[in-house]
Amino acid sequence: MSAKTVVEVKNLSHIYQPMGEVALKNVDLTIKEGEFVAIIGQNGSGKTTLIKHLNGLLKATKGEVVVGGKLITDQKVSDMAHYIGYVFQNPEHQIFAETVEEEVAFGPKNLGFPPEKIKAMVDKSLGSLGLSHHRETMPFMLGRGEMQRLAVASILSMDPQVLIIDEPTTGLDWHECVQVMDLVKELNERGHTIIMTTHNMSIVSLYAKRVVVLRLGEKILDGPTEEVFRETEILKTAFIKAPQIFRLMSKFPEIELDNYGIDHVAEKIYHYMKGAE
Ligand SMILES: Nc1ncnc2c1ncn2[C@@H]1O[C@H](COP(=O)(O)OP(=O)(O)OP(=O)(O)O)[C@@H](O)[C@H]1O
Ligand SMILES: [Mg+2]
Repeated sequence: MSAKTVVEVKNLSHIYQPMGEVALKNVDLTIKEGEFVAIIGQNGSGKTTLIKHLNGLLKATKGEVVVGGKLITDQKVSDMAHYIGYVFQNPEHQIFAETVEEEVAFGPKNLGFPPEKIKAMVDKSLGSLGLSHHRETMPFMLGRGEMQRLAVASILSMDPQVLIIDEPTTGLDWHECVQVMDLVKELNERGHTIIMTTHNMSIVSLYAKRVVVLRLGEKILDGPTEEVFRETEILKTAFIKAPQIFRLMSKFPEIELDNYGIDHVAEKIYHYMKGAE
């Protein structure tokens, strides 16, 4: 049985008023349950604008957005929050409570859940993001990596099927990036659909299974990560440089795609060259 469609964007355009800035042009995008999708593109290419349509933060100028089988314009914000969670680009803009626990409890309280259920959701969410020992901490005392995890935890406590994360690794060092992303990956393995935007191509190649590329508000590529990263010429037009290993592989289109461990690739290229001698 094929997976359920969780998000369907049809011919979406967005123009910011009053200046008439065209941020998205005729974008089509279908995302299925359990996918891990990265949306990439230069600054201003429309990534944030696109994902803000998926939970109704922005309204389409033209086109349609269907989430969980229903038109977004027909849904209540509270129903949406339970299905699709949105983690903002700058976690410090999202966080406002006095303690970590309060911050994480805010969402489920707002959804009107009974106290026992709220407690269970908060415990689970803090536990999965490795923040249980910070319950009483003031959010602004946290390090950047912890703050990012708190931003994810406060959305996860509503147990949304789909998690949208705008730039989860900005400002984090590599170790913190991997910590945050490993947790996101675990959520994906437990069945959550992940949609993230990022400028970090190493993170994309390590974690995302599918990549959507935007250029000046238009979708120019969409497919499995290893296929998209082989399109070096098209990526160049969007000022994106694929990680080195994919650039190397793009020189050998005959070699079949599978595992991109460097030793494995080196061996494949070696055999390919031997064969060509
Ligand atoms: N509130 C707004 N009002 C007017 N124009 C906007 C607004 N927000 C974004 N834009 C414009 O829309 C276009 C797309 O912006 P968007 O923030 O979606 O890009 P992005 O891909 O998320 O960029 P970044 O990588 O910098 O986060 C840009 O040209 C931007 O200047
Ligand atoms: Mg953005």
